[in-house]
Amino acid sequence: MSNPPKDTLCGIKAGTALPVIVAPMFLVSDKKLVLASCKEGLVGSFPAGALWTSAAFEQQLIDLNDGIDKLKAANPGATIGPYAVNITFKSTNKRVDADIDLCVKHKVPIILASHEATQEQIDKIHAYGGIVLHDAATIEQADKAVAAGADGIIAIGAGAGGQAGTMNPIALVSGIREFFDGPIILAGCLNTGHDILAAQSIGADMVVMGTRFIATAEANAEDAYKQMIVDARSSDIIYTSAISGAPGNFLRQSLENCGYDVEDLKKKGASAAKIPPPPGQESRAWKYAWSAGQGVSGVHDIPTVQELSDRLKTEYAAAKTDLAEKLNLTPPPKAPPPATYKIPKIGGPGI
Ligand SMILES: Cc1cc2nc3c(=O)[nH]c(=O)nc-3n(C[C@H](O)[C@H](O)[C@H](O)COP(=O)(O)O)c2cc1C
Repeated sequence: MSNPPKDTLCGIKAGTALPVIVAPMFLVSDKKLVLASCKEGLVGSFPAGALWTSAAFEQQLIDLNDGIDKLKAANPGATIGPYAVNITFKSTNKRVDADIDLCVKHKVPIILASHEATQEQIDKIHAYGGIVLHDAATIEQADKAVAAGADGIIAIGAGAGGQAGTMNPIALVSGIREFFDGPIILAGCLNTGHDILAAQSIGADMVVMGTRFIATAEANAEDAYKQMIVDARSSDIIYTSAISGAPGNFLRQSLENCGYDVEDLKKKGASAAKIPPPPGQESRAWKYAWSAGQGVSGVHDIPTVQELSDRLKTEYAAAKTDLAEKLNLTPPPKAPPPATYKIPKIGGPGI
């Protein structure tokens, strides 16, 4: 069992008002959504690759560090969440080293790593005190990330928005818990405070929420995209690799608007070859072919981030009370645990 430093989880816990990372979402997660999330005590995040040049990426880091300082100054006593940057560690990402160097320079608090970060890369982030949460859609991917020194694992369950896997979240989280005692952050189809508690009860510590936050006032998405999420059902989510070359979940209505043969995409699923845009036309992936997870069935409105966060906090508190009643639990004792107390294997110390 691997044991990353205890203060990793405690550090994130102390810095957030709710155990939620607002997902890094290509094109959707701009500075406005990140800062609106941090303001509510959540972790705001964005993908480095969405900034087209290193200069633009560096400017975003400067702006965010400045923005967080201003939020703290303007809201004394409030919990302002940290921000996180998603980096793709694929060998095809030519900017990976430059992006890491900029994260080191500007001391980005949390790195959300995709596609096999190496120990050397993770060490660079640890050297300035940064935290690395590595995503994994399979137990094997999580195993590799833990071996490379990741502080936490983002377990991406079936049905998640973006490039998702196919694993049942319970099997995924419990499989990772067999060899990893550190923070597990569950992603995929989570919309409510009850969902956050459900994720924790199956062994996760925190959650990532993506699709739910696309349908917010601050998200950088067209109004029609937000409304499509509100109108869609889970059965409208098509799992296909034809759009970006890697399997991902997309809204049927947007695929039809782009002219894709949806029945054919459904049949081929993750084995479909990438369909390039017609000659002379730009790629439709993400910009016109809109991604969302199967959680769309539970998204019914387009609130502000503040309204949504307030709702999540109320629901989360109610969920804890409901569950305690359901399980006939007495309130936990106020006294500190005995010195012999061991962190349970399932669920970790909790947030
Ligand atoms: C439109 C969209 C774009 C995304 N882009 C990225 C990305 O650039 N990097 C990444 O690591 N994950 C990306 N994701 C996946 C999210 O980080 C997250 O895992 C997912 O949204 C969680 O599932 P949910 O949408 O069902 O809540 C994206 C998801 C969506 C919906």
